[in-house]
Amino acid sequence: MDQELINFDEVGVSFANEQIYDKISFDVHAGEFVCILGPSGCGKSTSLRIMGDLLEVTTGEVTVDGRPPKESWRELAYVFQSPRLAPWRNAIDNVTLGMELRFDGVTKSKMRKHAEELLTMVGLENDMEKFPSMLSGGERQRVAIARALSVDPKIILMDEPFSALDLNTRRKMREEIVSIWEQTGKTIVFVTHDIDEALTLADRIILMSNKPTNVMEVIELDELRPRIIDDSGVLKAHKKKLVNLFRSLEPGYEEGT
Ligand SMILES: Nc1ncnc2c1ncn2[C@@H]1O[C@H](COP(=O)(O)OP(=O)(O)O)[C@@H](O)[C@H]1O
Ligand SMILES: [Mg+2]
Repeated sequence: MDQELINFDEVGVSFANEQIYDKISFDVHAGEFVCILGPSGCGKSTSLRIMGDLLEVTTGEVTVDGRPPKESWRELAYVFQSPRLAPWRNAIDNVTLGMELRFDGVTKSKMRKHAEELLTMVGLENDMEKFPSMLSGGERQRVAIARALSVDPKIILMDEPFSALDLNTRRKMREEIVSIWEQTGKTIVFVTHDIDEALTLADRIILMSNKPTNVMEVIELDELRPRIIDDSGVLKAHKKKLVNLFRSLEPGYEEGT
């Protein structure tokens, strides 16, 4: 359980003349739900791109599953802010698409059966034949989550996956992702700039500063889930501290959820 699955060791990133990361160090343990929280533009998505071998670091070292990212990309799957589904494929065929791209030699019917199981897990048992245009925003994100699970990755990287959804759907999806995480035992790295979201979901919150970015604070949370922030003195105290830190990082920051 406590095995280190992702490690950032004094990682620096620069583009042209701009230094994005100063020196970032953190790790993610196997089975953990980690939220990377920080102001807009601080490099949250950048951290996921580095894990997924879409970007090389300038200095320092990154390992994923004990290897450099270019050797371990198969251990990862992404869920982005927009679900990025193929519009001409129905829900099942969007989920099997992930498997078709990665798994050679698995029969179509096996993939289909697995896709049906995953769509049932994400609550879409009655919508499997629907095309993306027939699904709500939340339902499309559920398909994207099923597609990520379909390749059986060790790690799921989620980049503000619920931020485009309405408030009620967002809340429901947060509960849902916790339940999926509990059922599957996956490691989740979840990027957000929403303090409540991080407090509701995470085992550990890694707070990033403004550029050039450092890790400002690491907050461990062991409150039971489902969590209601207002019902927990501990969570309320963390929230107060994070809101104050955020106001110093992002002038004009207002609580959104
Ligand atoms: N390919 C790139 N070239 C130049 N600058 C980039 C590139 N990718 C990201 N950046 C810059 O890096 C910073 C961090 O970006 P990003 O990780 O997307 O932030 P966040 O996800 O926290 O909002 C931003 O200032 C962004 O403009
Ligand atoms: Mg981003």
